[in-house]
Amino acid sequence: MKIGVFDSGLGGLVVTKAFITAMPEYDYVYYGDTKHLPYGEKTSGQILSYTIDAIKFLISQNCGLIIIACNTATSIALRYLQQKFIPSFAPDVKVLGVVIPTVEEAIADKAAKVGVLATNATVRSHIYRQELLKLKSDLEIKEVAAPELVPAIENNDFDLAEKFVKQYAKDFDDFDSLILGCTHYPLLKEYFRKVLPTSVRVISQDELMSGKLKDYLNRHVEIDICLSRNFEYKFLVSSLNEHYKKVAQMMFGNIDIEEIKTHV
Ligand code: DGL
Repeated sequence: MKIGVFDSGLGGLVVTKAFITAMPEYDYVYYGDTKHLPYGEKTSGQILSYTIDAIKFLISQNCGLIIIACNTATSIALRYLQQKFIPSFAPDVKVLGVVIPTVEEAIADKAAKVGVLATNATVRSHIYRQELLKLKSDLEIKEVAAPELVPAIENNDFDLAEKFVKQYAKDFDDFDSLILGCTHYPLLKEYFRKVLPTSVRVISQDELMSGKLKDYLNRHVEIDICLSRNFEYKFLVSSLNEHYKKVAQMMFGNIDIEEIKTHV
């Protein structure tokens, strides 16, 4: 069985790169649903349906452990997948998301005020607020949607992205931590760190997810022993063109990426 990583597009390649760097021996299948990107601007019903299809696809690729790197898909679909879909469709498969590990990291250093920057759909779900409050009920939390950042990054327009970062950073000047709650934002983490006061800890998922995955595998030996280790990596998308190839290189570096022919 392989490790599957799912994202709405190519942003999840940043976290996948961190997984492969930290644990290169495992076999990974990356699947980006570029055909339906951006999830952040879709309805919850659409996001749920696309995510179920993607998980079915990764299961058909022999993935026994699937990480949903997409914050939007995690926010809208993970609970349903874990509680309803997976137990009946593929009870041996484990599906994990990015919100809980990120929230755990955010409260680890006694933060009192935590900010979250994410897509419209993630903010609308209030998943970060709910999960943060479960761990620390007296936290002050501010969730802000930054719909301009994903398109600016996808267009490789980092000047524009930097302008928006400056604008959004003002909302979090006096916070203890800022969660970058979107696959694409790790590419802007240094801008955030530059424009925010040093007292604000910028939490970037590319820096925390591989440690969390390692820890999960150490705690779940029964899953770890089922995972194949041939250093094989496959990168698949639902739609591929020259633009996506460039975005994939920006996210990951040199990469062989393939378009899938049939979905599930
Ligand atoms: N992958 C999405 C996320 O992390 C960002 C891109 C999109 O809107 O689909 O929320």
